[in-house]
Amino acid sequence: MSGGSKLRSQQWFRKSTSSFGHRSRMLQNGFDLEEFVDRPVIGIINTWSGLSTCHGHLREIAEVVSRGVLQAGGFPVELPVMSLPEMLTKPTAMFYRNLLAMEVEELLKSHPIDGVVLLGGCDKTTPALLMAAASADLPSIYVPAGYMLHGLWRGQRLGSGVDAWTYGPKLKMGEIDLEQWYEIEQGSARTVGTCNTMGTASTMTAVAEALGMTLPMASSLPAVDAGLRRLAREAGTRIVAMVEEELTPSQVMTSAAFRNAATVNFALGGSTNAAIHLLAMAGRLKGVALDLKTLDSIARTVPVIANILPSGTWLMEDFYEAGGLPALMSTLGERLDLSCRTVSGRSLGDQLAGVPVHNAEVIRPLANPIGQSAFATLYGNLAPNGCVIKPSAASPQLLRHRGRAVVFDGYDDLKSRINDPELDVDDDGVLVLRNAGPLGGPGMPEWGMLPIPKKLLAKGVRDMVRISDARMSGTSFGTVVLHVSPESHLGGPLAIVRTGDMIELDVPARSISLCVSPEEIVDRLAAWSPPAHMPARGYETLFAQHVTQAHEGCDFKFMRADGEA
Ligand code: FES
Repeated sequence: MSGGSKLRSQQWFRKSTSSFGHRSRMLQNGFDLEEFVDRPVIGIINTWSGLSTCHGHLREIAEVVSRGVLQAGGFPVELPVMSLPEMLTKPTAMFYRNLLAMEVEELLKSHPIDGVVLLGGCDKTTPALLMAAASADLPSIYVPAGYMLHGLWRGQRLGSGVDAWTYGPKLKMGEIDLEQWYEIEQGSARTVGTCNTMGTASTMTAVAEALGMTLPMASSLPAVDAGLRRLAREAGTRIVAMVEEELTPSQVMTSAAFRNAATVNFALGGSTNAAIHLLAMAGRLKGVALDLKTLDSIARTVPVIANILPSGTWLMEDFYEAGGLPALMSTLGERLDLSCRTVSGRSLGDQLAGVPVHNAEVIRPLANPIGQSAFATLYGNLAPNGCVIKPSAASPQLLRHRGRAVVFDGYDDLKSRINDPELDVDDDGVLVLRNAGPLGGPGMPEWGMLPIPKKLLAKGVRDMVRISDARMSGTSFGTVVLHVSPESHLGGPLAIVRTGDMIELDVPARSISLCVSPEEIVDRLAAWSPPAHMPARGYETLFAQHVTQAHEGCDFKFMRADGEA
């Protein structure tokens, strides 16, 4: 390769007496010197594991990437990292997002790597890998795992997550029986791949593409599609060229790229989790300022045009057939900064020129959206630093609502009392869950879509205003206020709400209020004492000492580019 002497890996492999240990140990692996000396060494970061069910095919994809790297004259090395299967990780995969980001960054920094292809997809893996890429700032391409094919049950299509939320209450009310429930379980996840709705996984892979960190269409391909294999091979060849071009993430993930990503997320009706991850990723880059108010101001101008569950009705395969993310971005046109550079080496405008929409029911024109807003940031005496809601997945009649609070002190309290026939709740009530934030959860578990009490389900109630410092799954829906900051565990006002207090939600006015006097709030806060801390060790200690609040992205303070410790 021309310019080989510039390669970072040559600090390890250049011929000298001091490189003996590096070179001899590579020879030990059966490689010849000409395979890796003066060739770009490409790390393939693989989040496969035997338990990472969404990533069951990533070893195969890594092989395909390797093929592309070799064809372009590079030297591929696969680097396994921790996996974060959303459904199997306790207390929540979010608790470990920062650990995965740190692991990948340190792997890249400490090894002879010139460029990297990142393989992920299940919810928290995407932001973790991009946070690492931003901090390490080596040439990087992200290749998403792709999503699973749609589920099937008795001739009906099933959407990941969303249908579990839909059929769960039906089971509770006896509208389906246990045998049917287990049939749904059998049919819901038919292939490898991530969730097939616009949950957090599809949201974040689309965010990665909108940021410019993937090749075009990467986030819209099914996991089992041959197109994903072709794209993976192309990523392998392209990363070798990116090393030559010295095209790094900091040149791609600019402030304008983040605005593009937020715009795309809102047009997709994407997961509320994206807000936290966007803030965390932006925080890893010098000079990229992003906050909740900026996200709200962008969301106000972007209608939801992707008709995909949970905001809409179709699934990711339909979205792909309709033209996928490039078609949606092409529809957004000048609302995006088309001058942004992507890992393809081309500008976004070049990539999107002439991209058609094949189905205007699934990817709607701007003049015919499915909803007006996928995101809003609310402030008030209940959330001084902000909280969020997804209006497009909420009940329109509840977006302005005043109701009587029913408070749960934590998840165990919620589980033990929510279906109690004596629960002191009325149809207009507001369910409040606390101690579910970054520290209280810990890790902000996806508990925010509190279940509707059984006695109200029996009366036909299907949605209520629910408020917490937790997150919710991107596949969830309802009038759910999330990410209340500061969290109750730290003495945020959520900590002093009492059952019977009135709460007022006004999404158009972007406000949320606890209807008690300021003096009463001060008195209650003065009388509040923090919950007993759970004994912590190891990573839990690090997390507890350094994690930031939801409105800051929940990254560790010392990992931010501004170096705030
Ligand atoms: Fe992995 Fe939904 S559980 S993407």
